[in-house]
Amino acid sequence: MVDKAMNMGDRSNTAPTTSAILSARNLSKSFGGVHAVNNVSLDVAPGSITGLIGPNGAGKTTLFQLLSCFLQPDQGEVLFDGSPIHTLQPYQIAQQGLVRTFQVARALSRLSVMENMLLATQHQTGESFWNVWLRSRQVAQQEREQRDRAFELLEMVGLAAKANDYAGALSGGQRKLLEMARALMVRPKLILLDEPAAGVNPTLINQICEHIVNWNRQGMTFLIIEHNMDVIMSLCDRVWVMAEGRNLADGNPAEIQSNTQVLEAYLGQ
Ligand SMILES: Nc1ncnc2c1ncn2[C@@H]1O[C@H](COP(=O)(O)OP(=O)(O)OP(=O)(O)O)[C@@H](O)[C@H]1O
Ligand SMILES: [Mg+2]
Repeated sequence: MVDKAMNMGDRSNTAPTTSAILSARNLSKSFGGVHAVNNVSLDVAPGSITGLIGPNGAGKTTLFQLLSCFLQPDQGEVLFDGSPIHTLQPYQIAQQGLVRTFQVARALSRLSVMENMLLATQHQTGESFWNVWLRSRQVAQQEREQRDRAFELLEMVGLAAKANDYAGALSGGQRKLLEMARALMVRPKLILLDEPAAGVNPTLINQICEHIVNWNRQGMTFLIIEHNMDVIMSLCDRVWVMAEGRNLADGNPAEIQSNTQVLEAYLGQ
């Protein structure tokens, strides 16, 4: 397992600042009588790799839905770069640099792996009919660049050889990798990963962790939900814990590992 502290070299240059890039303030969301998220607050420091853990059903994915505007909160607010975003649409926050992946990967199975990658890019010149005619050279150049970037990212996650295969032919783990690579096409500032290691074999998990550390070094911030504690503990600067829809604890990995309330929440599930 890659150890972020060991692999980050001099962390003083990339140390998170005090103002959060993403903040949840007193968020609540109920489904019928189920309080999936109940008055939860959380901060993600810019430049950090932040973890979100908790037993099954703790509300982690629902919180991600709220943070990424796939759901509207019943109460509370979400701030991205200091501005409220919880009233926006997911595509609008993607344009601002916040993207997410899904617990169950959502690749379009009847498109090729490469086509899935290229779908992620937005606002290309070629999307406008007139631009296609008036600026065809620029469009062609942009498409070449997107294809090159897509191929580079597919190589990083070990899927380049499958670029022309149907996404539907990929394993569950490979779809997760495709989804992560696709999210990176838009060069986000912040990426929310919902269980990136689930269903992925141990060798690939190590590779994913190395890529996360490298992308983080290049300035990308991560918020990661994960049940694989090795992944969380080796990568994260700070870990937030939820249980039964609420904040349970937050701290650095060592503090969380020795927190008796956290241990009890896991043992009690
Ligand atoms: N769309 C929905 N409709 C009704 N109940 C829901 C819905 N989404 C989530 N829930 C409920 O909200 C609670 C929190 O679910 P959530 O998926 O957020 O948990 P989680 O922490 O991501 O769990 P896991 O680790 O198993 O993925 C659960 O009781 C779940 O059944
Ligand atoms: Mg979940």
